[in-house]
Amino acid sequence: MGGMLLGATLLCGIGSTAFARATSAPDAAPRATVRDARQRAVAIVAKMTLDEKMALVHGLFPPLAKGKTPNELIPSAGHIDGIPRLGIPLIRESDASLGVANQIEQRKGDVATALPSSLATAATFDPAIARAGGAMIGAEARAKRFDVLLAGGVNLTRDPWNGRNFEYLGEDPLLSGTMAGAHIAGVQSNRIVSTVKHFALNSQETGRTVVDARIGEAALRMSDLLAFEIAIETGKPGSVMCAYNKVNGDWACENAHLLNDVLKRDWGYRGWVMSDWGAVHSTAKAANAGLDQESGQELDRQIYFADALKADVQAGRVPMARLDDMVTRYLTGLIETGAYDAPAGVAQAIPYAAHAEVAQRAAEAGIVLLKNEGNVLPLARTAKRVVLIGGRADVGVLSGGGSSQVRSVGGAPVEIPLTSGAAMSFARVTWHASSPLLAIRAAMPQAKVTWIDGRDPAAAAAAARAADIAIIFATQWTTEAQDVADLSLPEHQDDLIAAVAAAQPRTVAVMETGGPVLMPWLSAVSAVVQAWYPGQRGGPAIANILTGRVNPSGRLPITFPAATSQAPRSAPVGLDRLSTAEAQAAADPGHASEHQLPSFPADYVEGADVGYRWYEKTRAKPLFPFGHGLSYTGFAYRNPVVTGGATLSISFDVVNTGRIAGADVPQMYVTREGSNAPMRLAGFRRVTLKPGQSTHVTLVAEPRILADYDTKLPGWRVAGGRYRVALARNASDRSIVSTATVRAATMKP
Ligand code: BGC
Repeated sequence: MGGMLLGATLLCGIGSTAFARATSAPDAAPRATVRDARQRAVAIVAKMTLDEKMALVHGLFPPLAKGKTPNELIPSAGHIDGIPRLGIPLIRESDASLGVANQIEQRKGDVATALPSSLATAATFDPAIARAGGAMIGAEARAKRFDVLLAGGVNLTRDPWNGRNFEYLGEDPLLSGTMAGAHIAGVQSNRIVSTVKHFALNSQETGRTVVDARIGEAALRMSDLLAFEIAIETGKPGSVMCAYNKVNGDWACENAHLLNDVLKRDWGYRGWVMSDWGAVHSTAKAANAGLDQESGQELDRQIYFADALKADVQAGRVPMARLDDMVTRYLTGLIETGAYDAPAGVAQAIPYAAHAEVAQRAAEAGIVLLKNEGNVLPLARTAKRVVLIGGRADVGVLSGGGSSQVRSVGGAPVEIPLTSGAAMSFARVTWHASSPLLAIRAAMPQAKVTWIDGRDPAAAAAAARAADIAIIFATQWTTEAQDVADLSLPEHQDDLIAAVAAAQPRTVAVMETGGPVLMPWLSAVSAVVQAWYPGQRGGPAIANILTGRVNPSGRLPITFPAATSQAPRSAPVGLDRLSTAEAQAAADPGHASEHQLPSFPADYVEGADVGYRWYEKTRAKPLFPFGHGLSYTGFAYRNPVVTGGATLSISFDVVNTGRIAGADVPQMYVTREGSNAPMRLAGFRRVTLKPGQSTHVTLVAEPRILADYDTKLPGWRVAGGRYRVALARNASDRSIVSTATVRAATMKP
């Protein structure tokens, strides 16, 4: 969202609204099928005047829209008045990637349940957890009177330093698309709309409103677009949000190829395309290219989809049929999801305690045990003195910044305003009130558990030496609108960890980071626990993992590089081209519209070989591979049988060979023999097993993962022949590989 929030007059919050007791969507007409929805929408549009149509294709940005509507403006991202004459509901929009957002507490005192970062949810490899998170957020949003949620971020992680990696679902199109789809379906189970965003290739925050993402058509279809395609197929989002950046020369929100050709023609998408906030640059071009609605209109240089669009329609520069289609699509998205017939007009009470359990479950399933030498974890019950160091683990856990920021239940025990940078006007460094210290104390009543802040490495080392075990909480804050300049832990934390590890052989590092960081001290510590931003129940989730109440089961949805030089680019593109002021303006739409900033290209040379595929292609050994994650028990894969034919499948038994229950994520990677293409994740399944228990699993390859996109066809082409299939624990594991023959086939785009 634009950076004008801070200076804007914020209207009253929703805290005082009378509550009705219910948390689910009211009963209304049964859900419409897509066809019914479109037909109904067409019939409604047929009754509308030109001005009524115009009113629905641009939305207000509430902080800057005082006096522009007779209706209550809830401080949030968006507002579109309804048309009572036709029964069209008023629609309120909120950010909601990780919970109902309330950036810089624009609605004073309005809290919501904060999930862990999306990357943590991705690390569960469990669509049911993604769906439960979405359902929880949707219920809270409806209870807070929001009808459309700006959620479903599915941009692939191309650069490990992208400031929004924590809001996305990692680097693999199948995993990201599947998890995003499940999340969206969960949100929409409340009969409200979720977007999928940011369409497409908003892969970096540096200069996000001017960067031109450049990539070949086939590579794009096989990577970022495939993630969107899968998310749209499985989640059926009512709306797609187009991105700030350019794609191959055209702004994403006026990119006819992306919007008209790919999304609407090839994928048959029937909902509406809304712009990102401040991402519109034209009227006729954007409308004719497929943009259906201008969001947060006050953030654009001018309001393109009001008077200017009306004039273009009247002059025939935008056909009336196109305007009708824009409105029809908006109504179709609302009708199809149920939001139209059950608008979220009445505030409701929220079962926060039950929702906190959803957040805790996601955090526990998403925390990844990266290293556990000598089984230092789970913490020995005999440990008497445990010292926690740093990370404000006394009071809470870190969260990521930007439009996704949730003011969580329990508040923010630490909140640091920014004094510089592109996110300055709409982000603060915020901790959720969920103390690892208190949770570990409660879980280890036999031990004396203390905390020191870690500012003085010598004092931290002394405290570590005097204890039986030291647990360092390392933090890396990341935010929308800024990329991290390098992958090292900030504020000398590497030195702190090295000093503590030198003093205490049993040192555990708990990482609260947006994404991967470098770990120069890795060999010196016994264990590393990747906790991501663990959400408002992060404290107990971390304590349960450390003490073994919960067996770690997360798997990396993103490669951890051993060195920055392993990534396809060595730094955020454009960082060196923009002055500080320009970088700020280019990332912050509230200011970008006031400047004429030069565009610059980002060439995605890795093409479709994003993340782990790039590492395989360049033969680079990462610090930790995609898919990696340890457990306190062991799993064996037995009797693998690979079958070919129309696609590939692999059947096998997974056995829990250890002494405690746990969850495993067997992964299937495939490539055509002799193709030189890196192996691709084609299937995965999370399974939970008791000690000694086994289960039979069949993974069936998603056909588009076997295929290459053929622009001449156009469509997907599976080359017939022998394929290699790896049943693996991570993207680098080649211990079980077989082959099978797949029939040649083509599929529509
Ligand atoms: C972000 C979107 C967000 C929107 C509304 C933009 O700056 O890129 O993800 O939904 O603001 O807050």
